[in-house]
Amino acid sequence: MDSYLVIGNPVAHSKSPHIHARFASLTGQTLTYERLQVEPGHFAARMRELIDQGLKGCNVTVPFKLEACALAQERSDRVHLAGAANTLSFQAGRIQADNTDGIGLVRDIEVNAGQTLRGSRVLLLGAGGAAAGALGPLLLAGPAQLVVSNRTEAKARELVARHHAHASLQAALSRTELLALPLDASLPAFDVVINATAGSLAGAAPPIAASALQPNALVYDMMYGPAAQAFLQWAATQGARPRDGLGMLVEQAAESFFIWRGVRPPTAPVLAHLRQGG
Ligand code: ATR
Repeated sequence: MDSYLVIGNPVAHSKSPHIHARFASLTGQTLTYERLQVEPGHFAARMRELIDQGLKGCNVTVPFKLEACALAQERSDRVHLAGAANTLSFQAGRIQADNTDGIGLVRDIEVNAGQTLRGSRVLLLGAGGAAAGALGPLLLAGPAQLVVSNRTEAKARELVARHHAHASLQAALSRTELLALPLDASLPAFDVVINATAGSLAGAAPPIAASALQPNALVYDMMYGPAAQAFLQWAATQGARPRDGLGMLVEQAAESFFIWRGVRPPTAPVLAHLRQGG
């Protein structure tokens, strides 16, 4: 039977085994999917052992996404842009890397939340790994304007410059005004605001002023559960539409499943089940 894993540290609370088991049963695929915690410094050696044992693929989570990118012999455009990989596939001894986080975010926003990105004004807060994974797929969705704003402004500028420099996105960039702006109250108003900072985890105050929200803006936190609450509660009190990252989690898993199995699983019943505490 084909076997898959999610590898990280910590990984005990990962919902991925449950999500992939549901996908397998909904699509009639036969596979196993388990969690594996690996100690820092042992990722590459453990991966080689697992490949020798016949593992077909794995999801990679914190803190190994950069190492997963470095280990691969083939990298998708999404991986080149993000500088990180969350999906590895093994074929004929070769390691192929992809990054499904950003496309998962875009699908959750457009398909599940019903918010069109094309022609809209989007603010991406943060310039770390989570923001880097999202920016390429957000650009390809064709917003009129995409502003990256981060506490450390130089990191936002570097992330934007890397995306400007990437030839495969020229078509998207010609439609989209891509900017890095300082995080302060002079930000214009946006249709979609995406929090990709780790600020919520620390219980930090929302890093933007209410004037950055268009009426009825979609305010998205890539986290879910208690970590997303502070930012989303603030958004709700401003009259915005809050949305947590649970749908992104399911959609990025669906894209990984598609890469491995060539079958696109239905996501709505899996997300509904998770929202009910499943
Ligand atoms: P991740 O992989 O989750 O993106 P990361 O790469 O460490 O983690 O990036 C964390 C992001 O959250 C960064 O954009 C960071 O801002 P800096 O670049 O200025 O460090 C942002 N961040 C963390 N704590 C924050 C806070 N209290 N307020 C605002 N931004 C914060």
